[in-house]
Amino acid sequence: MKPIKVGLLGIGTVGSGTFNVLKRNQLEITRRAGRSIEIAMVADLNVERARELTNGECEVVNDANLVVTNPDIDIVIELIGGYGIAKDLVMKAIANGKHVVTANKALLATHGNEIFKAAEEKGVMVAFEAAVAGGIPIIKALREGLTANRIQWIAGIINGTTNFILSEMRDKGLDFATVLKQAQELGYAEADPTFDIEGVDAAHKATIMASIAYGIPMQFDKAHVEGITKLQASDIRYAEELGYRIKLLGISKRTEDGIELRVHPTLIPEKRLIANVEGAMNAVLVHGDAVGATLYYGKGAGSEPTASAVIADLVDITRLATADPEHRVPYLAFQSNSLSDLPVLPMAEIVTSYYLRMHVADKPGVLADVTRILADLTISIDAMLQKEPAEGETQTDIIILTHQTKEKNIVAAIEKIEKLDSVFGEVTKLRLEELS
Ligand code: HSE
Repeated sequence: MKPIKVGLLGIGTVGSGTFNVLKRNQLEITRRAGRSIEIAMVADLNVERARELTNGECEVVNDANLVVTNPDIDIVIELIGGYGIAKDLVMKAIANGKHVVTANKALLATHGNEIFKAAEEKGVMVAFEAAVAGGIPIIKALREGLTANRIQWIAGIINGTTNFILSEMRDKGLDFATVLKQAQELGYAEADPTFDIEGVDAAHKATIMASIAYGIPMQFDKAHVEGITKLQASDIRYAEELGYRIKLLGISKRTEDGIELRVHPTLIPEKRLIANVEGAMNAVLVHGDAVGATLYYGKGAGSEPTASAVIADLVDITRLATADPEHRVPYLAFQSNSLSDLPVLPMAEIVTSYYLRMHVADKPGVLADVTRILADLTISIDAMLQKEPAEGETQTDIIILTHQTKEKNIVAAIEKIEKLDSVFGEVTKLRLEELS
C-alpha cells in the first residue's frame, strides 16, 4: 500500500520531535498502522532551520497554504498554536479534504465546535491527543477506554509549569515570583507565562476533557479560570500542617443541575496519589460509575512526549482513513446529534469544601463571631488551626476548613466575616477537594 502523506505546519519543539520519532520508529509504526506514514512536506517561516532539521528528506516551504492545498497531502499536522492563522489553516485543510492532527488546545477549546462541524460535513477526521496532557493518552482513554461509563468527575494536574512552581514553593519554602523566574530560566515557563500561571492553559484542557467526558459542546467561555499568582507561601505551609497539598487542578463534575467546569488552586489530601505528582509532570484522575477512579500520569509537555501523542493520532487516522465516516470514533466521543445541553454551572452554584485564612485580633469572642456567621449560613466546620501570635504581637492567623457547601454561601460568609472589627484585611479562600 502506498504511504500516507503528511504535511507538517510548524517544525518547532513538537514538530521536530514528531519528525525524529516517526523516522526512528518507522518500522514499528508501519507494522501497527498497516502502511507507512511519510512527512512529505513541512511549512515553517524559518526555512533554513526546517531544512536542517529534516536533512533534505522532504519538501520545505515557508507558506503553509501550499501544504493545506496540496492534493498529494492526506493529513495536515497543525503545530503553529494560537487561534489566528492556525484556525484559518485548519479550516482550509478541512475544506480541501485533509484529515487534521493538532496539539492546539486553545484553538479547540474556543473554536472546536465550528471545526468539528466543518470536518463532519467534509467527512474528515480531526484528532487532538496532543492537545491535553502531552504524552498521556487521556483523550483515547476518555473517548474509547472508558466508553462504558457514565463519567462523574475529572480532576487533573494539566499544566506542568504551574505544578513545577507549586512543587518548588512547597519544597523550598520560596515565594511565587522567585520560583517563576527559576522556571523561566529552566525553560519550563514561556517568556510570557500568562496562560500557564493564570490557569488559561489548564482551562483549555479541562474544557476539552469535559466535552468528551459528558458529551457537551466545547464551552471555554463558561469555565471558571483562576491561576496561582495570588497564592501565598503561607497557605502552602498551613495546608501542609493540615495534611493537604495545594495543586492547580482542572476540575469538571457532573451534577444533577449541570456541569461544574473550573480551574483553581485546590487543597487535596496529601495521601492521594495525585497529590504526590511533582515538578513538571501531569496527571489526570477520572471517575467513572463502573470503573471507579482511574489515574493517568506522565509528561505533559516536551518534544518527544508530545510527538508520541501526535503520532498516535497519525496511526489512528491511517488505520481509519478508508473507513466509512460513520464507523469512526466521534470527535467528542458522543455522536454529534446526541450532544447534551446540560448547562455549565455558574460558580455560585458549585459545591465543594473550603479553606479560609483570616488575620484576626487574638482576643476572646473572635472565633465565636466567625463560627456564628458560618453556622448561620449552614456551613459546617471540618477542622481549624490557630497559630500562636508572634512574640509581642496581638494578632494572629486562623485557618478553617469547611465541609461541602455551595460557593454562594461561602462568598456570603466571607463578606460578613470581613466586616468584623476583629478581622483584618481580606479573608483568603481556597477550594478543597477530597477526590475520594
Ligand atoms: N505550557 C504547558 C505546560 C505545556 O506548562 O504544561 C503545553 O501544554
